[in-house]
Amino acid sequence: MVAQQIVRVRDLRPDEMQAILDIEYKCFKDPYPLGLLNHLYSLHPDGFLVAEVNGKIVGYAIAVMRWWRTGHILAIGVDPLYRRRGIGSMLMTSALNRLREKGAREVRLEVRASNRAAQKFYLKLGFVQREMIPAYYADGEPGIVMVYRF
Ligand SMILES: CC(C)(COP(=O)(O)OP(=O)(O)OC[C@H]1O[C@@H](n2cnc3c(N)ncnc32)[C@H](O)[C@@H]1OP(=O)(O)O)[C@@H](O)C(=O)NCCC(=O)NCCS
Repeated sequence: MVAQQIVRVRDLRPDEMQAILDIEYKCFKDPYPLGLLNHLYSLHPDGFLVAEVNGKIVGYAIAVMRWWRTGHILAIGVDPLYRRRGIGSMLMTSALNRLREKGAREVRLEVRASNRAAQKFYLKLGFVQREMIPAYYADGEPGIVMVYRF
């Protein structure tokens, strides 16, 4: 029998940043350094959401208000062992709800041009592609701006 998996999305607690860093390293070739994550958390403590499965943190999203009536998804990642189970969608839905509560009329993010999986994920959630930013990433890769409108 397969044990039931209970997924919950909640706010990050201050002593849990290492769990986010661990997932960052599993997800990205250019992970956010711990110092930057801690700095962002000091500015936006309610912008950090985590998904836990049976008490273990397996995904996170960082969603903040950045511009007038506009939210910004700074990062979203799910541990590779837990992907394609709807956890990323749960995180993004919670992040969008939170930004809407803060007054956002639209939410924006940037994604690597080569990251087709994430682009499909965002498209399925209702984001649309807007412009391309040349050399947006440190290695010279362009970024695609995607936008969600409430
Ligand atoms: C993008 C990411 C967060 C998605 O998390 P997830 O928990 O696997 O997403 P979900 O299970 O909610 O997927 C929802 C839908 O998105 C689409 N999708 C997700 N991953 C996909 C993939 N690898 N290829 C194609 N479509 C994908 C599918 O339509 C999927 O629905 P389905 O499984 O019923 O077909 C995860 O793949 C990840 O952490 N990637 C590495 C980090 C990253 O690229 N972050 C974004 C940077 S901008």
